[in-house]
Amino acid sequence: MKYDIKVSKTKQSRLNEVDFDNIPFGRVFSDHMFVADYENGKWTDLRIVPFAPFSIHPASMVLHYGQSIFEGMKASKNENGQPMFFRPEMHAKRINASAQRMCMPDFPEDLFLEAIHSLVALDQGWIPPQEGSALYIRPYMFATDEFIGVRPSDTYRFIIFTGPVGPYYAKPVSLIAEQTYIRAVAGGTGEAKTSGNYAASLLPARVAQEKGYDQVMWMDGKEFKYIQEVGTMNIFFVINGKVVTPATDGAILKGITRDTILILLREKGYEVIEKPLHIDEVVAAFDRGELQEVFGTGTAAVVSHVAKIAYGDRVLELPAIEGRKIGPMIKDEIDGLRSGRIEDTHGWVEEVKTLELVD
Ligand code: COI
Repeated sequence: MKYDIKVSKTKQSRLNEVDFDNIPFGRVFSDHMFVADYENGKWTDLRIVPFAPFSIHPASMVLHYGQSIFEGMKASKNENGQPMFFRPEMHAKRINASAQRMCMPDFPEDLFLEAIHSLVALDQGWIPPQEGSALYIRPYMFATDEFIGVRPSDTYRFIIFTGPVGPYYAKPVSLIAEQTYIRAVAGGTGEAKTSGNYAASLLPARVAQEKGYDQVMWMDGKEFKYIQEVGTMNIFFVINGKVVTPATDGAILKGITRDTILILLREKGYEVIEKPLHIDEVVAAFDRGELQEVFGTGTAAVVSHVAKIAYGDRVLELPAIEGRKIGPMIKDEIDGLRSGRIEDTHGWVEEVKTLELVD
């Protein structure tokens, strides 16, 4: 191990309170968390401590100007009970891409990887055993200067905590193609995983929910015609056997699950098209009876089927899930790779190293 991560273990594990057959998303947290502080241009005081609240100064810059970024990743157990990560280095890289956009310091990739290995090795008992469930890992960084002038903070905190999760969406989702609010435009922060993007999505999502839909399907910020992404997912359409997804254009999050699916589908011989995708093309395909499937993809959501999409006065009711082919197949492939049921030929699955942690 290259870094000196100090470990203080909890005196009283809460693991026996968890019902792995009934895990709500995002409400159960494991015993420990990793913490590091950035001061004088360096990440210092690397530590794993019992998961617990911490205090924050009222003038802490993150609370005022939103310099805050995060990742979402997962660890699962393979059929032999070995804990595994999925493409962890992609998350280490992406958080630094977000940091750069938000004028925050890099977090060294090798430290990120060492921290998640150490933390998940320690709390591996929290990884749910069932395929499709996982230990969700939430790395995040925020500004901590006690100052209310507008400038980048000089100090930051980086935390990683984890918690067992089941599926994010329990059933197929319904979407409204948003025609009033926008999530992002090229040149904005849409490609960064920064908290403000999610804050800005809350009101449109609430309006969609009041109309009986689960989420918003974001459209481009100029014409409200080109599809971007959905609440917490990238989005894929199957039109007459071809898979089409919006090209990332600077306003769309570069999903790691999205990338994985593009690679897998192309290897399986599907025609996969990344392009600016006009909503009229989707409506026309629906009217011809050629819109066969729509699914969203993301770390939390994995692959979530879309049941219907509202656009203006049209409601596109999509074919029943039972008749779908590509969405269910690709979901099974990802679940299978994570559980070790399907052989990983890409080097995507990485065993969690069982480390000797000194208390
Ligand atoms: C993830 O898919 O991990 C995300 O970050 C979505 C999250 C906002 C639930």
